[in-house]
Amino acid sequence: MSRIAYVNGRYLVHADARVHIEDRGYQFADGVYEAIGVFDGRLVDGGPHFDRLERSLAELRIAPPMARRALEFVVDEVIRRNHIGDGFIYFQVSRGVAPRNHPFPAHARPALVVTARRHAFPDDPETLTGGRVVTQRDIRWERCDIKSLALLPNVLAKEAAVSARAQESWMVDDDGFVTEGASTNAWIVDGEGTLVTRPTSNAILAGITRATLLRLAREAGIAVAERPFTVAEAQRSREAFISSTTQIVKPITQIDDAVVGNGEPGSISRRLLGLYLAYARAEARACA
Ligand code: PDD
Repeated sequence: MSRIAYVNGRYLVHADARVHIEDRGYQFADGVYEAIGVFDGRLVDGGPHFDRLERSLAELRIAPPMARRALEFVVDEVIRRNHIGDGFIYFQVSRGVAPRNHPFPAHARPALVVTARRHAFPDDPETLTGGRVVTQRDIRWERCDIKSLALLPNVLAKEAAVSARAQESWMVDDDGFVTEGASTNAWIVDGEGTLVTRPTSNAILAGITRATLLRLAREAGIAVAERPFTVAEAQRSREAFISSTTQIVKPITQIDDAVVGNGEPGSISRRLLGLYLAYARAEARACA
């Protein structure tokens, strides 16, 4: 069975799918993207992901490629044609195709690509394993709240993690506070047992998994604080983890050379993964 990609109005065999060489996404990274988890064939938190897409587009003054309802239809169709049970949808919108010139082109039509991939989410909080993060200076721009295609600093940070045999890089601002991971949000459980993550601002991407985990934690009566934390505080913390659409909750048991807590995934990390999985499966059932 071949994978199918949606490219500007057509469903194509993935291996043959192409975009134009003067697509501004290709030439200038002039576009935005989203990745949405699929559980049992249904989008998880589709609404907030589409909201974030529309916000990213508006911030860059790129017109939506189609109405939200139409985009939801295309996304469902890509899930269906690729027979995705558990996986994720990736899509990106660029400003379109135009002769290479920096200013916005007068007449380009936004270009839309949607792909889907199967993915095995972590499915058992008890068998979760820990990973390591290394820290890097955050060299990104001042609009990290936009889910822009321009990911070169993130790519370099992730590659630095891979070279160090670590799971992720945590990027650190000029004041010594952790902003986020190369493709994840950053969390700790502090000495008081409070779940801590940096507040949203232009310094980080407002992760949808982050928002859902905050809500689930509050509903479960876990103390939560949205405040910045330093690398030193994280190294002394009881637990640390990263969150994203594809990893959900991944415990971090070492930060650079320091072991976190007792070196094992912590109980709050495990609990949050369990709460998230229950929520995602229930949401998928409700949409069926
Ligand atoms: N990454 N921070 C950054 C810089 C990210 O790229 C991501 C997502 C997140 C987590 O956001 P969410 O919970 O909405 O997935 C935080 C996606 C998955 C990616 O680039 O593949």
